Amino acid sequence: MVEDSRISGFYKLSREQRVAKLKELTGVSDEDLKPLINPGKVDMEILDHMIENVVGSMTLPLGIATNFQVNGKDYLVPMAIEEPSVVAAASNAARMTRKYGGFTAVDTGSHMIAQIQAVGIDSPFAAKHDILMEKERLIELANEQDPILVRFGGGARELRVRVIDSKVGPMVITEVIVDTRDAMGANAVNTMAEALAPEIEKITGGRVLLRILSNLADLRLVRAKATFDKEMLGVEEVVDGMIAAWAFAEADPYRCATHNKGIMNGIDAVVIATGNDFRAIEAGAHSYASVGGYHSLTKYEKDRDGNLIGTIEIPMAVGLVGGATKVHPVARASIKILGVNTSLELAHVIASVGLAQNAAALRALAAEGIQKGHMALHARNVAATAGAKGEMIDIIAKRLVEERNIKVERAKEILEELADKQA
Ligand code: MEV
Repeated sequence: MVEDSRISGFYKLSREQRVAKLKELTGVSDEDLKPLINPGKVDMEILDHMIENVVGSMTLPLGIATNFQVNGKDYLVPMAIEEPSVVAAASNAARMTRKYGGFTAVDTGSHMIAQIQAVGIDSPFAAKHDILMEKERLIELANEQDPILVRFGGGARELRVRVIDSKVGPMVITEVIVDTRDAMGANAVNTMAEALAPEIEKITGGRVLLRILSNLADLRLVRAKATFDKEMLGVEEVVDGMIAAWAFAEADPYRCATHNKGIMNGIDAVVIATGNDFRAIEAGAHSYASVGGYHSLTKYEKDRDGNLIGTIEIPMAVGLVGGATKVHPVARASIKILGVNTSLELAHVIASVGLAQNAAALRALAAEGIQKGHMALHARNVAATAGAKGEMIDIIAKRLVEERNIKVERAKEILEELADKQA
């Protein structure tokens, strides 16, 4: 846990200085940080056992977002992503919330849904009734599959049945609702669904086909809220412009896809850094956004004083135990940096990052023009690629932007020119 996630000028430090600061603030040991600081130190044996046909690894840059405070606790947030601007933008937006207490977040608990598809049933509504008559026994049977989860306070909680119409006739879909606690829960719920399948066949006289979790995790929602300071956002028109940008997304799916993508920039980066299943999170987010017509995962309004209030509501099926989160050394280090104790606490932080990311993008679009911010960071990358070091990176990047010629060749020329002058 960090006392204070505000680190002024973190981006100006060298990488080594940033690492030193991170250690100082989080107290995470050298040993734990080693694989994160130096990806070459990740044991290939571990990766070899994670998937098939392993030949190597793909490393992404991992940056630390600063300024986050969620439910009164400060967090330094690891983000793994290939896109420039994302980490800076999240940190910047989080800074604008601090005056009003940062983010608050609530959740609906860690409930996942497993589906059992039964077909070939003559009287589907009667079958639904018959399954529900056996509900308690079926829930008990599901819980027998995972005594450890039950010991940790989780387990199957509810069972519901829907009759749906399909292109191949009616289907009876039994859904088991499972509190998966600190696990993402895919394995646990799939095992339960498989165990119930023969019982469903016996009760209904039908044939069970699929038994698999649903990624539309709408019983594992997180809601986060923050007030973004109007002075820090700029003039009042910026706040109005951001609200109009959000309204555009709500009114138009072409814009909304990009709007929600911006939210996922932040969310996926933390999900990947912590070794969670980003495809599950993406599927959950967009399917949830589609319920009732594709809409924004965030909402914006103004408070009495003209500040911007943002809220987000999003499924967040992330875990702390099991899977890559427990096995991958970089994911383990990320969890230590975050200092989260439960998967719901992690989910609160991730949703808050999504909200911050979205607010930052809307501000950039409404106020400055996204291209300008992007170009400045792109120019820094180009300057570094050309061989610039230290403060030379900023000097050259500034020239590239001024000249509107952000190319490595030009950066090299400027670098040589400046070196000649110094000689
Ligand atoms: C770019 O990765 C994300 C944005 O396009 C999001 C948005 O337009 O809201 C900036």
